[in-house]
Amino acid sequence: MRKHLIAAFFILSISMIVYSCQTAGQVEQDMYYTNGRDLYIKHCQNCHGAKGEGLGALTPPLTDTLYLKNNKSNLACIIKHGLRGPITVGGKNFDDKMPDFENLADIDIAQLIVYITNSAGNKQGMYKTEQVAKDLADCKK
Ligand code: HEC
Repeated sequence: MRKHLIAAFFILSISMIVYSCQTAGQVEQDMYYTNGRDLYIKHCQNCHGAKGEGLGALTPPLTDTLYLKNNKSNLACIIKHGLRGPITVGGKNFDDKMPDFENLADIDIAQLIVYITNSAGNKQGMYKTEQVAKDLADCKK
């Protein structure tokens, strides 16, 4: 009987530890998402729209989940250095210019990426601040 109690207690503590780790990760992601949404409203919404719907033939939408997935490691570069030249997003061609945001800190860029990759139909999970410097080192010139 006592053995069973100890075993039950052991299993309970392990599952509590696992559970609290998961929620800690989720809390961090939610914080990035909320701050990222504020930054998005301030810096990006004018062009990309409140729901990431884009702006007609001028600005591509952020609803092409495949584009954001395939270009995940390039998103930091796009935000930091802007983008120009022809691209295809959501089956439509765009050839305009996005301004750079050189003044944004790595943490701002990470929060923006968490927001755009987890809204407008996207669901890619966490993207950490440490990843920004790594991705920026590989920007296409
Ligand atoms: C002045 C308008 C403008 C602003 C402000 C702007 N963008 Fe863009 N963005 C564009 C244009 C135009 C393109 C496509 C450029 C091209 O044709 O090469 C683009 C492309 C993109 C792309 C790649 C294509 C896509 O739609 O998935 C991403 C991601 C993106 N922008 C994110 C952002 C984020 C995040 C911000 C805010 C920090 C932002 N943009 C601010 C105009 C803008």
